[in-house]
Amino acid sequence: MTSPGGLPYPITLRGDGIVLREWRDEDLDALVELLDEPAIARWTPMTSPFDTAAGIAYLKRARQGRLSGRRMQLAVTVDGERPLGEVLLFGVDAGLREAELGYLVGAPHRRRGLAARSLTLLSGYARSTLNLGRLLLRIDPANTASTAVARHCGYRLTGEPPILQEGPYGPSSLDTWELVAGGANSRSERLRNVAARRYGRRS
Ligand SMILES: CC(C)(COP(=O)(O)OP(=O)(O)OC[C@H]1O[C@@H](n2cnc3c(N)ncnc32)[C@H](O)[C@@H]1OP(=O)(O)O)[C@@H](O)C(=O)NCCC(=O)NCCS
Repeated sequence: MTSPGGLPYPITLRGDGIVLREWRDEDLDALVELLDEPAIARWTPMTSPFDTAAGIAYLKRARQGRLSGRRMQLAVTVDGERPLGEVLLFGVDAGLREAELGYLVGAPHRRRGLAARSLTLLSGYARSTLNLGRLLLRIDPANTASTAVARHCGYRLTGEPPILQEGPYGPSSLDTWELVAGGANSRSERLRNVAARRYGRRS
């Protein structure tokens, strides 16, 4: 089914040991456990503390975004069951064929390649199925984990001026990253990176 705004709903994306699926009402406890965490409070616009009421509102907004076709918010799982994180696609501009993506992974599940594999899967889908040519990430340069994920997946810093914002941690700025042609799904790019690692640098 395609929702009125254009983005397909519901969907399940599978690949590289990852299953991205729609959020369900019964995910509430797991969602609160994942999102009520300092790094998520620090680097995302999530409410903190993230309690049950915040979780209910979040699931409701996710469902509305899906039904209206404006956003994709998918739970990151390895088996289609327990949510371990989330990937998002939003801000779609069909004319410019561009969209922004985002990601988070629960603290106990980090450093296992979940964010990188999920972002690669969603980016590939956005390119090949949604026909979006320009995929963007907005990242605070101090967020080393997120910049590492972006780089790993074939995103590169653009020269766009930083987006300045005020948050609970004071003023910050977000850099814009863009998936380069071929991107993370490109075999040649992966091979280049393997070769570059051997010689101690990254392409
Ligand atoms: C950013 C985040 C999603 C990373 O998730 P993750 O599943 O641990 O990341 P991965 O395991 O896929 O790691 C991918 C790469 O990033 C590197 N990386 C991950 N966390 C890192 C850290 N804290 N410091 C340095 N590098 C890190 C990994 O080593 C890996 O590098 P590689 O290219 O050498 O393989 C997670 O830390 C998180 O949810 N943080 C809070 C929310 C957030 O910042 N979201 C992004 C907002 S822009």
